[in-house]
Amino acid sequence: MIRTVLCDMLGISHPIIQGGMAWISDAELVVAVSEAGGLGVIGGGSASPEWVAEQIDSVRERTSRPFGVNIPLFSPYAEQVIQLCIERRVPVVTTGAGSSGPYIEPMHEAGIRVFPLIASVALAKRLARQGADGLIVEGHESGGHIGDVATMPLVPQVVDAVDVPVVAAGGIADGRGLAAALALGAVGVQMGTRFICTTECTVHANYKAKVISARDRSTTVTGQTLGHPVRTIRNRMSREFAQMERDGLITGEELIAFGTGKLRLAAKDGDMDAGSVMSGQISGMIDDIVSCRVLIERVVADAEQRIAVLGKACV
Ligand SMILES: Cc1cc2nc3c(=O)[nH]c(=O)nc-3n(C[C@H](O)[C@H](O)[C@H](O)COP(=O)(O)O)c2cc1C
Repeated sequence: MIRTVLCDMLGISHPIIQGGMAWISDAELVVAVSEAGGLGVIGGGSASPEWVAEQIDSVRERTSRPFGVNIPLFSPYAEQVIQLCIERRVPVVTTGAGSSGPYIEPMHEAGIRVFPLIASVALAKRLARQGADGLIVEGHESGGHIGDVATMPLVPQVVDAVDVPVVAAGGIADGRGLAAALALGAVGVQMGTRFICTTECTVHANYKAKVISARDRSTTVTGQTLGHPVRTIRNRMSREFAQMERDGLITGEELIAFGTGKLRLAAKDGDMDAGSVMSGQISGMIDDIVSCRVLIERVVADAEQRIAVLGKACV
């Protein structure tokens, strides 16, 4: 059994976090992941505090296992959702898109474990100094909003720079990925794209099919001109967005307006042409839809086997 400090810190059986995903990771997925021994995380996205409260209640009605809430700090409701998590004493909060430093202490007072997502050594050091319990280090190959350093070079550099536990994210979908992350010094993994292709994920079936049909080079990155790069599967939407960025004929605000609502269009309405199909480079390796329990057990068993084989391979 692979047990790491992350399991003890979060009260979970396997060192696997399901990444919070706006419009995708609702109570259904979170319960399935947490019941399977990982950490399910509600994707707060830019959703209202009322929606997040409903998801928290729904999770608590169906499992007594630990779970988390992801709060992107660009959400207009970020402060309200943080307050909600404090009032409800949610076990774990992961934060994305910014520095959660000022919020860490009040969350700690409510007994919340805080794991910010970071994509650089500088931000990792700052948040570790400000009291983060651990860091989710997310590489460029991830789906959704990304930084510019890949998982392989970023994780060990952060591990060397901070003294809090590090969770690796980006490009991980099987036991090889978990074993590699542990070898890089991480204490666990966060997977996003892989959890889209699970039976309990309520995302539109077209989205799951799109991830399964993707190959190694099917994703692209747009939004660099806005300073907010996003990785999606190539489609009409990504081509039009990229063209507008190249032409430079519209303002940043107009570009943002064009992108707004497009993830919802893909995730809820299943529009694979006009929607934003956020997904990581690892999509090319995903070829089935399984339950969260099967997925997590498979990843852990495969990692254990890989680690055992690696031990014997070194002569
Ligand atoms: C469709 C999608 C939506 C995402 N939404 C969020 C989000 O709202 N907040 C966040 O912090 N990360 C978000 N992420 C990032 C994931 O939580 C996770 O860190 C990432 O998917 C890991 O890389 P992988 O896709 O290679 O597994 C999203 C990822 C995907 C694929």
